[in-house]
Amino acid sequence: MVVELKDGVYWVGVVDWNIKHFHGHEYTTHRGTTYNAYLIIDEKIALVDTVYGPYSHELIENIEKIIDIKKIDYVIANHAETDHSGGLPELMKFIPEATVVVSEKGKESIYKHYHYHWNFKTVKTGDTISLGKNSLVFVSAPMLHWPDSMFTYLTGKNILMPNDAFGQHYASSSRFNDEVDMVEVYQEAIKYYTNILTPFSDLVIKKIDEFKKLNLPVDSIAPSHGIIWRENPMHIVEKY
Ligand SMILES: [Fe+2]
Ligand SMILES: [Fe+2]
Repeated sequence: MVVELKDGVYWVGVVDWNIKHFHGHEYTTHRGTTYNAYLIIDEKIALVDTVYGPYSHELIENIEKIIDIKKIDYVIANHAETDHSGGLPELMKFIPEATVVVSEKGKESIYKHYHYHWNFKTVKTGDTISLGKNSLVFVSAPMLHWPDSMFTYLTGKNILMPNDAFGQHYASSSRFNDEVDMVEVYQEAIKYYTNILTPFSDLVIKKIDEFKKLNLPVDSIAPSHGIIWRENPMHIVEKY
């Protein structure tokens, strides 16, 4: 399944209906989850995040429905945990020359996971990569929820891709918050915050304030798990 978020921006992720536990067995996920990856077609082509390793083939099939996979120039790895970076080894076999964009900490931990000397480019808050018409802007977000975590923002389309932040473990055949039962989604968003972000609540508030100071308009928030906040996207930010 492939879904267009905005002109030239596609969800190419995977819905995992069956997963019932996350982070070992500590976190139950009765409503399953999704691993969201986003493909951006511009003069240059970028993929933001991959999927959990066992689903790599689905990610690759999804990308191939839209473009020749070999045309990908940049792969952004916002976070090294395997539910998002697990697709890298299979993907990179097709595009060994592509640039893998990571935070400094992300570079260390992705190398420790996979032991490949990919063409890494490290970025920090305020760094940008032009894709042609639009650009990617990066915001480091340490401890939201891991030391290496970062957010990627796409100008022009005004999409914030904050990886695990603002996510929910919620499997659905719909991709957007205006298409699903919001009571269920908020139950999962609260549970998610409680499980992975509560210890870092002070940092969450500081990061949101820092992001607001960048004055980047947000039309949608596209996290790495669950539905995409398209209608009133700042509501979940206020809730955080
Ligand atoms: Fe994570
Ligand atoms: Fe995750």
